[in-house]
Amino acid sequence: MVKLIIDTDPGVDDAMAIFYAAAAPEIELLGLTSIFGNVRTEQATRNALRLLEAAGVDAPVAEGATGPLQMPPFTPSAHVHGAEGFGDIPAVTPVAKAIEESAAAFLCHMAREHKGELVVCPIGPLTNIALAIQLDPEFVTNVARIVIMGGSLEEGGNITPHAEANIYHDPHAAEVVFASGAPVVLVGLDVTHRILCTSDDFSAIAKAAPELGGMLQEMSVFYLHFYETVGKFDGCSLHDPAAVIACTHPELFEMRDVPVRVVCEGEEIGLTIADRAVGRPAIQVCMGVQSEAVKGLFMGHLATLS
Ligand code: RIB
Ligand code: CA
Repeated sequence: MVKLIIDTDPGVDDAMAIFYAAAAPEIELLGLTSIFGNVRTEQATRNALRLLEAAGVDAPVAEGATGPLQMPPFTPSAHVHGAEGFGDIPAVTPVAKAIEESAAAFLCHMAREHKGELVVCPIGPLTNIALAIQLDPEFVTNVARIVIMGGSLEEGGNITPHAEANIYHDPHAAEVVFASGAPVVLVGLDVTHRILCTSDDFSAIAKAAPELGGMLQEMSVFYLHFYETVGKFDGCSLHDPAAVIACTHPELFEMRDVPVRVVCEGEEIGLTIADRAVGRPAIQVCMGVQSEAVKGLFMGHLATLS
C-alpha cells in the first residue's frame, strides 16, 4: 500500500487523478495540498475538498501558496478546465474546511511522520514542494519519492512551444526541486501524450460508476472540446492520472536517469533540459510507457467507484 499525498490544482485531469487514487486499493490517500495553476489557490482548495467529499474520503486538505516563487501572478487556465476548474459543472461550496497548517508545513510534518514511506505526487506547479524543501532540510530524505506530473524532454510544450504548463507556472520552484537531491520521478508530456481517453471511454466510465464516473464524464466534455480546438481529435491526455499510476506501478514506465534543469527566463522559459553538465543529482524521467496498461488501470479502477 502506497501512502500518498497529492499536491493539486483541480482541474479536470486532477479530478480524474484524485478519484483514481480514491478508488485504488493499492493507495492510502493521506491528504491533498492545493496550489494555483488551472484555477487560483482558493478555488483549488475548495475543489480539492469537494472532490474528497464526493468520493467519501476522510482526509485533510492543506492550502498552498497563492503565487509562484519569483514570477508575476499568473492567469488560470479557464479555457482548458472551465471557470471553476471542472468544465461546465457549477461551483459548490464544500462542507469541510482546509486545515490550519500550510501545505508546505503539512508536507514536511507528514514526511517526518511517515519517514521513508510517504510518496508525494505534485500534479500542479511545484511551488509548495519547493517551499517544503526550503522549510525543512530533512524533507528530501524523509520522503520516499516525489512523483511529478510535469516537464517534457523531447515532446515540446503544451502551454508554449517549449514548456509544459506545470513547470511553466513556476520554473524557479521546479529548479529548487530538481536541484535538491530529492528522489524525483518526472512524468511529463513524453509519456502523457501517449495515454489518451476518448469521449466513448468516459461514457463507459459513467455507465459503470454513474455518480463519480458521471461527474468525470460531465467535466470531460469541456476538456475534450479544448483538445479539439487545438487539433487533437483522438482524445485527451491522462496527464495527472498517469503520475498517480506511476506512484504504484513504476514498472509500466521506462525511465531515464539524468540531471534536469529548467530555463527560467526568455522565450524558452519553462523548458526542461536533460543536462549531464549541470552538476546536480540525476532524477528519473519517464520516456516510455505501456499506454494500454496504464489506461486499463485507469478505466478499471474508476469503474469500481459508486
Ligand atoms: O500539462 C498538464 C498539466 O497542466 C496537468 O497537471 C493539468 O492539470 C495542468 O495543470
Ligand atoms: Ca494538474
